Amino acid sequence: MLITKNIKMADVIHMNYFTLSVLNRFGIELGFGDKTVVEVCKKANIDVDFFLEIANAFVDKDYFPKKQLQSFSVKLITDYLRKTHYEYHQIKVPEIENLIEDMVKSGYTDKENLVLLKKFFNDYKQELLNHTQREETVVFPYAISIEDAYNSKTLENSVFDLMETYSISIFQNEHENIDEKLFDLKNIIIKYLPKQKKSENCHKLLYELFSLEQDMIDHSRIEDKVFVPKIRDMEKVITKRFAEKKQ
Ligand SMILES: [Fe+2]
Ligand SMILES: [Fe+2]
Repeated sequence: MLITKNIKMADVIHMNYFTLSVLNRFGIELGFGDKTVVEVCKKANIDVDFFLEIANAFVDKDYFPKKQLQSFSVKLITDYLRKTHYEYHQIKVPEIENLIEDMVKSGYTDKENLVLLKKFFNDYKQELLNHTQREETVVFPYAISIEDAYNSKTLENSVFDLMETYSISIFQNEHENIDEKLFDLKNIIIKYLPKQKKSENCHKLLYELFSLEQDMIDHSRIEDKVFVPKIRDMEKVITKRFAEKKQ
């Protein structure tokens, strides 16, 4: 079932509680009573169509690729992606670290495996940081320059130079799955972590990892299926303009 403008925002969460993190990224706070999606978005100054596309892509995996989502500006899309990165680093990762720390404190029978788990997650955290930093410092600024050039009436040579040094296909080739390692981590816990005093901590940790993994799959889908094709199309148009200018 698709999320539409006129359904109650409360029902969006009832349909799929994972949408709570989408609401958070849009800065929508709970307590909206019986207000509809469009009413809540208007009040929070949010582009309702963009919200609907992101939320629907989140609840329905077959919703992609959608032409509509491609019609939004690069700035709007990268702002959303940046907010997601921020949430991973500031909320999700620290939550998981706290859970692991709790497990260490609660006295595991096998400290050695727990230390390994901690190390695995620390390495993962660094990898995630490298991944998102590269996107935010290299890829997103490049994409915004391409969009500016695409929308501009003049054809600046600097864009041509920029496209000589970088292209979205480089990003496409180097873009790794950030969720795969989480799958491995879940497996270590499920298959090999020995019995502990408080199994609920372990279950909570698994739940958080499943939820983060699901969120990251969706995040990468937006990058690969919406962001990359959008930039590639604009690069093609710009390249064509340069070719026409030369003639
Ligand atoms: Fe990302
Ligand atoms: Fe990414």
